[in-house]
Amino acid sequence: MTVIVVSNRVARTKSDEPVAGGLAAALIPMVKDSGAIWVGSSGQTAESEQNGSFAKIETLGTGALATIDMPARHYRGYYEGFANSALWPALHSRSDLIHVTADDYASYREVNAFMAQALMRFTGPTAVFWIQDYHFLPLGEEMRRLKVGRPIGFFLHTPWADRRTMTAIPHHAELVRAMLSYDLIGFQTDEDRQNFEDYLQLELGIAVVDGTVASAARLTHLATFPIGIDVDEFTARATKASTRPEVSRLRASLQGAKLVLGVDRLDYSKGLCGRLRAFDRLLETEPQLKRNVSLLQIAVPTRGNIRAYRELKAELSALVGEVNGRHGEVDWIPIRYLNKSFSQLTLAGFYRTAHVGLVTPLHDGMNLVAKEYVAAQNPFDPGVLVLSSFAGAAKELDAALLVNPNDADNVARQIAAALRMSLEERRERWHAMVDRLRAHSVQNWFADFLRALGDTRRAPARLAASRSANSPVVVDFVNRAAQRH
Ligand code: UDP
Ligand code: G6P
Repeated sequence: MTVIVVSNRVARTKSDEPVAGGLAAALIPMVKDSGAIWVGSSGQTAESEQNGSFAKIETLGTGALATIDMPARHYRGYYEGFANSALWPALHSRSDLIHVTADDYASYREVNAFMAQALMRFTGPTAVFWIQDYHFLPLGEEMRRLKVGRPIGFFLHTPWADRRTMTAIPHHAELVRAMLSYDLIGFQTDEDRQNFEDYLQLELGIAVVDGTVASAARLTHLATFPIGIDVDEFTARATKASTRPEVSRLRASLQGAKLVLGVDRLDYSKGLCGRLRAFDRLLETEPQLKRNVSLLQIAVPTRGNIRAYRELKAELSALVGEVNGRHGEVDWIPIRYLNKSFSQLTLAGFYRTAHVGLVTPLHDGMNLVAKEYVAAQNPFDPGVLVLSSFAGAAKELDAALLVNPNDADNVARQIAAALRMSLEERRERWHAMVDRLRAHSVQNWFADFLRALGDTRRAPARLAASRSANSPVVVDFVNRAAQRH
């Protein structure tokens, strides 16, 4: 089996450079270890849309990375437009932020068609395709148009919002129908999968039976695969990072104060304004904490050409200034706010230094930072994770202090509880969380998805039959669906 993983963003390194987002962070080690081919954007555009010409194919561990220049005419409409100004906001329940044009959608479709053409280079009798994330919802359909018969799976790294929210996306029905070209669609949580099923059944009138959808061409399986991290790798990094200059400097600068740490892309889904207000509230309600606690918020600029992101950046800067101005002293400021990124190695050292990991997204597919924070702790003296119940990670990390990120008082109280928590309770909660992380590692995520994708084709007779709408499999499916409705 030759696994071809496809995503818009790719990355090369694992520990020496920052990684932009959880998708790339998860895939780097998996591609390196599995021998998969990872196909994605080179980050450059080209005027001539010479299909299938890869800018570069290089080795990545035992695997390979193949990057392609994207079509200059369409990249902006595809990436800044439809993907990140229609799909991303809707998937994160912010349909009020949708700003797209018909041209953006046309460009999105063009780039998907372009990528399908490029992937023809990798089709073969052993190829298995695994498409990643909302940039490529209709890629499977484009590949089927080009007569790709091999298994194609899709995994969504973001949430799938409730049905009404998803209908705010222009062409939503066309896109969801296109997704039924996949053999397997994976979600981060059961709630996301259920929202997708509700959309199919209530919006499109398409039956879902036992997590399976039958269309004329195939059966599409829907399942949940929570993405994870390599716990041992992060633990090792956290130990190794303790001597890194930035980590030592951070530790020394605290002068005995406790550190609360936030690490996020500067994205409206991450609840950063609410987090700063909660920290403000903490200092107001517990003034004795002044000088004894400090918030380090790393907010990595992202998608800076999109207005909503630029506005958020300005809002956050103003808010940090306001809170620091009100609570600060000549020799102390409460919030350290950085618009830059760090390598995962350095981050691991920061995580281990922090007494509290503060992860308060309003909506998040999973949130790997929450998991990395737990994995990086000293088992004998672990810090406390304060986690939004709206992050996918909260489904597994229910031993964290779960908070409602919209309720600043609730978040402030939980930060205070985390700062006061006994060693015994910290250890108990940490053990419960790290056990869950080991059970749902990134290795398991990768293997489970590919196994399930393989299983969709494991029974050749059943599969061959399912290719015809009148096949026994499909007839049986339709009958069972009818009995349920
Ligand atoms: N990250 C990084 N350097 C930074 C900030 C973040 O390498 O300065 C990595 C972090 O280690 C994590 C990923 O970026 O693996 C963020 O993933 P997450 O799922 O938390 O959020 P996303 O950005 O995908 O929404
Ligand atoms: C999230 C998305 C990824 C994306 C990442 C970084 O994790 O699910 O698909 O790669 O954010 O965003 P960017 O737009 O910089 O690729």
